[in-house]
Amino acid sequence: MRRKVIAGNWKMNKDIQETVTLVNEIKERLNGFNKNVEVVICPPFVSLVVACGLIKGTMIKLGAQNMYHQNDGAFTGEVSARMLKAIGCEYVILGHSERRQYFKETNEFINLKVKQALANNLTPIICVGETLEERESGVTDQIVSTQVKGVLAGLTQNDIEKIVLAYEPVWAIGTGKTATNEQANQVHKLIRKLVAQLYSWALAEKLIIQYGGSVNQQNAFELLSQSDIDGALVGGACLKADSFVSIIGAAGEVG
Ligand code: 13P
Repeated sequence: MRRKVIAGNWKMNKDIQETVTLVNEIKERLNGFNKNVEVVICPPFVSLVVACGLIKGTMIKLGAQNMYHQNDGAFTGEVSARMLKAIGCEYVILGHSERRQYFKETNEFINLKVKQALANNLTPIICVGETLEERESGVTDQIVSTQVKGVLAGLTQNDIEKIVLAYEPVWAIGTGKTATNEQANQVHKLIRKLVAQLYSWALAEKLIIQYGGSVNQQNAFELLSQSDIDGALVGGACLKADSFVSIIGAAGEVG
C-alpha cells in the first residue's frame, strides 16, 4: 500500500518570525501523532534553515518550492539542489503552475530541474494540471499526458521510484473550487496508466500521486479516500496549523 504524503506549499507567505510560530504550532499539534503519513513543509527559501532547526527530531520533513538546474555558477538570484540538500531539504516542488504561468517554465525546463534534483538526492514533487479553458475544451487528458511525458523524459525506472507527482488542476488552485473526488481520481488514474505504459505497472503502482487545489479540512478525507489519490499538496490551508494538521489527521484515518 502506498503511504500518504501531505505537503504544505507555503508559497510566498510567512516571514521568519511567522515561520517560527507556524512551525512550532504544527509541531505541538502533531505531538503524539503516530500514523504512517509523510509530512512535508515547504516554506520560502529564506526560512528553510530556521525551519530545519525547528523540525529536528520530529516527523516533519523539509522541502523547497523551486530550484535551478545547475549546481553552482553565475546564475544571479537562483538556488541550487546542492545548496538545498546541504541545509536539510529532502523535497523540492518543481513545475508548479504558478511557475509555469508567471515565470514561463516549460516541461523541458522542469525536466532539467527534475534530473538535477534527483542527482542531488532530493525528492522532486512534480506538478502537472490543466487550466479551466483546457478542461472546458475537453483536452485535460492530452494536456496532462503531454506534461507528464515532458517532465519525466529520460528518467530511468530507478528515478521514477524516487519522485512524487502532484496533479493540481489550475482552476482549483486558490479558488475554493475543488475538483470532485471523481474528477481528481480519474486524472490520477490516467497518470498512473501513462507511467505504466512508459515504465511498468509495478512501478506505476508504487508511484505517489498527490492532489492539489483547494484541499481543506472539510474535503481532505473524501479526496484522500479515492483509490489513486496518495496525498495532498496543500496551499492556503497549510498556512494555519489547525487546518494543516487536520488534513494530516485525515490522511492518517484513511491509512
Ligand atoms: P490551494 O490549496 O491554496 O488551492 O493551493 C494549492 C497549491 O497550489 C499547492 O501547491
